[in-house]
Amino acid sequence: MSPTATDIGSATAAHPYLTGLHTPMREELTIEDLPVSGTIPAGLTGRYLRMGPNPMAPNPEKYHWFAGDGMIHGIRIEAGKALWYRNRWIRSDRVASALGEDRTPGPRHLFDTVNTNVMGFGDHAIGLIEAGGRPVLFGETLETRTYTDLDGTLRGGLTAHPHVDPLTGEMIAVCYDAATWRSIRYLVITPEGRVRREVRIPVRHGPMIHDCAFTQRFAIVLDLPVTFSLTAAIAGYNFPYRWNEGHKARIGLLPREGDAEDIIWCPVDPCYVFHTVNAFDTPEGGVVLDLVVHDRMFWKRTCGPDSRQCGLERWIVNPIARTVRRVSLDATAQEFPRTDERRLGQPYRYAYTMALTDPFLGTALFKQDLVEGTRQTHEFGPDRHPCEFVFLPAHEQAEEDEGWLMGFVIDAAAATTDLVILDARTFEGAPQASIHFPHIVPPGFHGNWVRDAQ
Ligand SMILES: [Fe+2]
Repeated sequence: MSPTATDIGSATAAHPYLTGLHTPMREELTIEDLPVSGTIPAGLTGRYLRMGPNPMAPNPEKYHWFAGDGMIHGIRIEAGKALWYRNRWIRSDRVASALGEDRTPGPRHLFDTVNTNVMGFGDHAIGLIEAGGRPVLFGETLETRTYTDLDGTLRGGLTAHPHVDPLTGEMIAVCYDAATWRSIRYLVITPEGRVRREVRIPVRHGPMIHDCAFTQRFAIVLDLPVTFSLTAAIAGYNFPYRWNEGHKARIGLLPREGDAEDIIWCPVDPCYVFHTVNAFDTPEGGVVLDLVVHDRMFWKRTCGPDSRQCGLERWIVNPIARTVRRVSLDATAQEFPRTDERRLGQPYRYAYTMALTDPFLGTALFKQDLVEGTRQTHEFGPDRHPCEFVFLPAHEQAEEDEGWLMGFVIDAAAATTDLVILDARTFEGAPQASIHFPHIVPPGFHGNWVRDAQ
């Protein structure tokens, strides 16, 4: 299957997110019995799913990497074999219409592009977007089944980065909406998939809040100076968020069962954060928040991220004094942090990040030992570009780094992609397995391992 005849290549020569490795795929592929180097761990049964933008007919003058039509990529693994690879566009109205298909059922809110994250959720894989869009549910072979409002409990959109508390099974989300500039929403979603708590939090300027974090006591809100730009929206940019010098940077500690008036706001220096790693309470009553911090964002470029520097930091928050002490953990540019999600909201030791040399691409992964303060590097080679890697524990009782890291690695010279599985304990060593497919999967955003019957 392919999109309607639109010559993407000729129209977009100068756009960095429409050319080179980012050239959108033009077809939906199904490739069975993929070749494998090494040995896929026998206990892995499920699918690795990864989401990213793959625009069908973008206007290169206004296109932003974050706003393209979504595509899901998936690999089915079972009994040590890679049974299939599939890529499928998410059937928004625009995509379904271009493909000549029926409209995807389910309730929309604001817009219906979904392109940022995919995770297991109840019995389904759920595709996620922020800024007011609602999630979609996928079928086993990655077909877009339906948009969802969580049985009528989700008023408005969700977020690309909800986090499940492993101790309660509940999902925590901080949601913003491109059409609502004076408030954001904190949601608690039950393991059964219904919103049980919604707190509307007053803000100014419509901040873009990409991620959140939580401890056992608090949900953490990142209210930072990237905000909705009416000027950019009127000018026709499909991603109308810009650096805003007039927006006061702060983080909020919201007691998890508290209301908006209970939130403890703490000022921080202007900066931007896409992704948190983790957070936890300290015995002294403080909060530790680990995150990747950009010095600024969306201040010049209108097509993608444009910070001048970024690094891994630990923010030590004193809720009584309302202060934040910023400690640099690693000033090397890196992004897409992941950790063992059984430790979310609790003290932990390891983080895994992607080294950045290009604005959002590099050739290495880092394993950060936050207790010892050391870093290991897995270097893939000059033409090989890893994307986000997710950590999978080897088994339920596995220790924190006892397990696998899994993610795409694009080989720019060979124009191929591997799904690479690393042993987290022998991080710098040869991969445990590499599953090969004969095309470039454009760099995207987030992926997860979705076990069967999850
Ligand atoms: Fe993200």
